[in-house]
Amino acid sequence: MVCASGFFIFTIIKELMYRSHDCGSLRFENINQNVTLSGWVHKSRNKGFIIWVDLRDRYGITQLIFDEKRSPKNVFEKVQNIGREFVIQIKGVVIERESKNSNIKSGAVEVLVNELNILNKSKTPPFTLEDTTDGGEELRMQYRYLDIRRNPIKDKLIFRSKVSNTVRNYLTSEGFIDIETPYLIKSTPEGARDFVVPSRMNSGQFYALPQSPQTFKQLLMIGGLDKYFQIVKCFRDEDLRADRQPEFTQIDCEMTFVEQEDILNQFEGLTRHLIKEIRGIEIESFPRISYEKAMKTYGNDKPDIRFGMKFIELNDLTQGKGFDVFDSQELVVGIAVPGAASYSRKEIDALVDWVKRPQIGAKGLVWIKCNDDGKYKSSVDKFFTESQIATWAERSGAITGDLILILSGEVKTTRTQLSALRMELAERMGLRDPKVFAPIWVTDFPLLEWDKETNRFHAMHHPFTAPKPEHLDLLKTDPGNVNANAYDLVLNGNEIGGGSIRIHDQKLQSQMFELLGFSKQEAKAQFGFLMNAFSYGAPPHGGIAFGLDRLVAILGGEETIRDFIAFPKNNSGRDVMIDAPAFINDTQLKELFLKTLPKE
Ligand code: AMO
Repeated sequence: MVCASGFFIFTIIKELMYRSHDCGSLRFENINQNVTLSGWVHKSRNKGFIIWVDLRDRYGITQLIFDEKRSPKNVFEKVQNIGREFVIQIKGVVIERESKNSNIKSGAVEVLVNELNILNKSKTPPFTLEDTTDGGEELRMQYRYLDIRRNPIKDKLIFRSKVSNTVRNYLTSEGFIDIETPYLIKSTPEGARDFVVPSRMNSGQFYALPQSPQTFKQLLMIGGLDKYFQIVKCFRDEDLRADRQPEFTQIDCEMTFVEQEDILNQFEGLTRHLIKEIRGIEIESFPRISYEKAMKTYGNDKPDIRFGMKFIELNDLTQGKGFDVFDSQELVVGIAVPGAASYSRKEIDALVDWVKRPQIGAKGLVWIKCNDDGKYKSSVDKFFTESQIATWAERSGAITGDLILILSGEVKTTRTQLSALRMELAERMGLRDPKVFAPIWVTDFPLLEWDKETNRFHAMHHPFTAPKPEHLDLLKTDPGNVNANAYDLVLNGNEIGGGSIRIHDQKLQSQMFELLGFSKQEAKAQFGFLMNAFSYGAPPHGGIAFGLDRLVAILGGEETIRDFIAFPKNNSGRDVMIDAPAFINDTQLKELFLKTLPKE
């Protein structure tokens, strides 16, 4: 009896259910089964007496067949009225498909429909919802909910979820605890600009949205909660690029009683695990390079080491020979481009023009072809002998068939220019293979950098970063030359994470604020809570934060983070879908003690 009523209830529930299967699950084994499916009309083909409809949901596409002879008359009439992106529910029987489609998971079968329910109509979408769409970026962002229906975007969001779950599971299994920290905090003058939120209950006062949970995670360590992590939104009001959003997500971590080595090992473990789980690739080694060496060898602090073309400094070999372009400059530096001696004159001229563009800003580019006959042909043949040029080729490790490209100028600028050229050439030559994963730790960053505009030091990482213990004495005498206990993790030329060992001593923290130009009062007003906490037994601690958006994009083989974010902002920081930011009304402004704007 119980059994019979159970069956009865089950049958009723099944009748009421939107679907018995999803659109990606029907297979040959389901043939002759009665099924209920719900989804969006992806496409339809009308042959007059037969109509095929591709029904789509998150899981895939199933072909429906409406047949004038075999489907009920009212169903066949109703299907004439459906259009693209209508939401429908159907009941029918699974049959074998005559022409099978091996490109889709349910391609061996189709459903002969005997009941059709239109759940909702749809206007014609403003762009095609195919893998390759005719919709431009702005339009796709305005109708992001439609864009998300397309496989490339949907798959990226599912991929992101897989990455963050893998991170969460790994860190939890390693004993990390997930703790939330507040979003309404206090504005601080360091780092990027803050997004601020006016307080209604505290006239004229503002919260700031956190640029990172940095101070809170340190306070958690003081609270004794070793091994904290949080997958957390951070907010920075800075200029946007392909790898930057005003709100982005960090995998934020902190540990107590650790040194740099402990952190590097722990998070090499996480990165290794992720690349193995997500891409099935075993990472052999995590090389390390100092900031100074990275700048000298690659011209930037996030080197892409998937390919060579390392910088070779040529000052001693090239200067003092009467060639003014080199003689008067701080740095003469080159790269050997493999196999590029075959470039035509036109191609080389195009490279020269490329470095002269305002975005790069070089004055010119010296080139040397290492030809097959063992001879050199260069743009400076008039100024140097062949044997002089041979010494440059030898130093740069160039072999027959290579093209040596040389820039000269002020150290920092020239390195930046040559780094841009190196990356551009690698891109053009297909050397930035997205299926290859090459992590590298960059260590020994300077603690401070001098800012010419404000005429003061800035913390290169943040003001809570500890100096190298062996450089403590230099803090008073030569602060510009103090190195920090800080590290970045770089993956395929992108900074995916950064962290440091922190200051946990009140005196040292005060000294640091002083170096950064804070008066005692300012330091107390801004960071008194932290300094105070340091006086209650702060343990040695350190941590790191990964940029989740960047990490996900790179693991997905791309560098633009926007498509891996469900609702990203455009380059002007706008959400064009909800049209934010937006003005607020006078009542709200008054309530928040903000001045009302003059009416236009
Ligand atoms: P940092 O400022 O280096 O360190 O940030 C950590 C990582 O976050 C990512 N990231 C961004 N991703 C997208 N859009 C942005 N605007 C953006 N800004 C940063 C980068 C970066 O490596 N509190 C410290 C961490 C620590 O010391 O533990 C911090 O925030 O991948």
